[in-house]
Amino acid sequence: MYRLVFLGPPGVGKGTQAARLARELRLAHLSTGDLLRAAVAARTPLGLEADGHMRAGRLVPDDLVLKILKERLAQPDASAGFILDGYPRNLAQAETLDRITRIERVISFELPSEVLVRRLSARRICPQCQSVYNVDSRPPRVPGRCDRDGAELVQRPDDRPEAVETRLKVYTEQTAPLLAFYRTRRLLSPVDASGTPEDVARRLRTTLRASG
Ligand code: AP5
Ligand code: MG
Repeated sequence: MYRLVFLGPPGVGKGTQAARLARELRLAHLSTGDLLRAAVAARTPLGLEADGHMRAGRLVPDDLVLKILKERLAQPDASAGFILDGYPRNLAQAETLDRITRIERVISFELPSEVLVRRLSARRICPQCQSVYNVDSRPPRVPGRCDRDGAELVQRPDDRPEAVETRLKVYTEQTAPLLAFYRTRRLLSPVDASGTPEDVARRLRTTLRASG
């Protein structure tokens, strides 16, 4: 059974690859970012508290994220294996995760920062079904409209340049130290995230096969 963590900077393609692999291997795709955005859209108390942090590109407080993660992990589909996309994001979260489950492999997606910024500024999402597009690499069939439900595509509020700058800084300062944390535990496998989504998916499959 796979219990995987996808680590990597904003815009590297964690969500794109997690959705794909989860479909292929029938794993649950647990994205704390998606769960938080759903809470914001539903205007739950947790969502209202998370909103300001997310818009600014800062991390949401650990206790709030842990609450939604635990609820999601308790759902039946997660018992057959999962991909954690966007958790953990700091050392305290990694230590918490150690106490609640056993992770088999941590994939670290790697890409130069200028490519990250390009991918983020070209991303568009569907506010209805959360499908992810990219005006450069994955345009919708009808410009500005979701292929699935025709809704008008929008930019994520934290994909504005000021928030992107903060997110990259937060990644370097708080999340990048997890690379050493997992390397020491011999759980870390780097994957080159350049090229097309298909190229990355192929490297990911090879890496997972090699690591058993
Ligand atoms: P989250 O939603 O996790 O955002 P992120 O980590 O910044 O990552 P992104 O979702 O922006 O990028 P991605 O790697 O998934 O890339 P994608 O596949 O979309 O978190 C958002 C916020 O929530 C955080 O800032 C924080 O406030 C809060 N939060 C979440 N988790 C938290 C936690 N654990 N603790 C505290 N706070 C938390 O791809 C990007 C674009 O590129 C898309 O347009 C895509 O179509 C395109 N693309 C993908 N792959 C390729 C490719 N190979 N070639 C060309 N284009 C590509
Ligand atoms: Mg994502």
